[in-house]
Amino acid sequence: MRKTLHPLNLLLAATHLLVAHAKIYPIDSQGQPLPGAIETYYMDAENLWLNRDLYRSGRRELNPAINRIIRIATEASNDPTTYTVTAKPSNLLPPSNDIHDFYSLGRYYWPNGNTTDGLPYVRKDGLFNPEIYDLPDTAWLQVVINDVWACGLSYFYTGNETFVETGLKRLRDWFINENTKMNPNLNYAAWVKGTPAITDATPVTPGPGLLDLSKIYLLVDGISLLRTSPTFTPSDLQALQTWFRSYLSWLLTSPRGRGESTALNNQGTWYDIQLLSLYLLLSDSTSASSLIKNSTIPRMTSQIMPDGSMPLEQARADSWHYSTFAAEALFVVGDLAKNTGVGVFGFQTGDGRSLKRVIDYLVPYALNGGQGWPVPNSGNFSMDEIIELCKEAYIVYKDQKYLDAANQLQGNSPQTWNPMRLWAPYNVFDVPAASDATVKRWSVAALAAIAAVWACVM
Ligand SMILES: *[C@@H]1O[C@H](CO)[C@@H](O)[C@H](O)[C@H]1NC(C)=O
Ligand SMILES: *[C@@H]1O[C@H](CO)[C@@H](O)[C@H](O)[C@H]1NC(C)=O
Ligand SMILES: *[C@@H]1O[C@H](CO)[C@@H](O)[C@H](O)[C@H]1NC(C)=O
Ligand SMILES: *[C@@H]1O[C@H](CO)[C@@H](O)[C@H](O)[C@H]1NC(C)=O
Repeated sequence: MRKTLHPLNLLLAATHLLVAHAKIYPIDSQGQPLPGAIETYYMDAENLWLNRDLYRSGRRELNPAINRIIRIATEASNDPTTYTVTAKPSNLLPPSNDIHDFYSLGRYYWPNGNTTDGLPYVRKDGLFNPEIYDLPDTAWLQVVINDVWACGLSYFYTGNETFVETGLKRLRDWFINENTKMNPNLNYAAWVKGTPAITDATPVTPGPGLLDLSKIYLLVDGISLLRTSPTFTPSDLQALQTWFRSYLSWLLTSPRGRGESTALNNQGTWYDIQLLSLYLLLSDSTSASSLIKNSTIPRMTSQIMPDGSMPLEQARADSWHYSTFAAEALFVVGDLAKNTGVGVFGFQTGDGRSLKRVIDYLVPYALNGGQGWPVPNSGNFSMDEIIELCKEAYIVYKDQKYLDAANQLQGNSPQTWNPMRLWAPYNVFDVPAASDATVKRWSVAALAAIAAVWACVM
């Protein structure tokens, strides 16, 4: 059909596969939210809701996944630590000397053997410098994100306000309380020691990434679920929105933020994911759809080859990891894009570049344990990411081959605990063996609900 790569064709291809999606669920016939409605952007609000109904009706298949999330939220509730950027040792401050600035080191950067002080650090792709673990901010921010997300889901499934209090504690400590909050910037994330401090004159080029906040989409969904509780006060929400607005402005205007927007590999997609999550949280749907049209889709057309390979990722030392990591970013951006009316999952160029091609390119190598992978790979052929991607691909493209691949790759032992099951169509994958489930037979109502869910997937 489409033979050329004229920009208008790209736009048509992108908008043509519009994905109708209820980001707020449930709504009435006028589109107004019903009481208790939830609004999530990465996790599918409708599936979450229907799955909870089935759980409450006594079905037990999701228990392993729900229990896992509740265990994380319970451990978080029992952990009184104040997670904050201000906990880092005062002798390990970023070049700004401001303890409220987030500080982490580029993982592939090492002391320079040609200088007496080792500065500036030099890049050795694929080789982790263990010095990154001296700085706590990266790991602590992941705890905050993970706990807020798990508390949001646990609150949604159980209604237990303890989880809201725990999620709020993490949010207040990291983002709100004056004494402990992080400044809304990542100027010194993945920092390369020995490079000049950030000023307006800092060159606008892609750096070693802003991946420390790449999981912001889970944070935003966690906040969305927590805020349905009366424990979550309007002033907490306002304070968070203020923080996120400042951080969004930093992403859009600072040298490092603007530099990242020009990255043509996975880093650029993860940057878009951050912007998109913030636009959605701040109800700016116009900017969200423009971003996908102006940035995400054009990047996909240069990043993905017609055969589905991604040369910038294959050029990395850890080429298998980065190829699956880039595909993961595209699936996340595709899920977020469902809220905007500009489709990513169905996007395809005239010469066949698409997300589906990416997964179709990777899966045969995965099924072969990495054998035949056409470029050097310094890391392992880890299958964890591709297993998740196959499940996502099965939901999105509804082709049995992806589910078969996932099952084969996980040795036909279902990951019954997998949290993805909580926002996927009910029992679409990783269903426990019948003996684990107290309710074994499918009720007519449940089957009808599943059919309805499937009808809404695309
Ligand atoms: C709520 O969760 C907390 C933390 O896990 C637990 O101690 C408490 O018993 C739960 N409350 C109810 C009513 O289940
Ligand atoms: C160190 O010096 C050698 C010899 O001049 C040079 O080949 C190498 O690239 C230098 N390494 C760095 C990291 O600058
Ligand atoms: C996207 O591109 C359109 C058309 O070129 C332009 O009008 C709009 O301002 C751009 N939006 C963003 C967010 O860059
Ligand atoms: C690869 O696997 C080996 C053995 O399990 C492990 O020791 C090593 O750390 C792994 N390497 C990477 C890069 O994950």
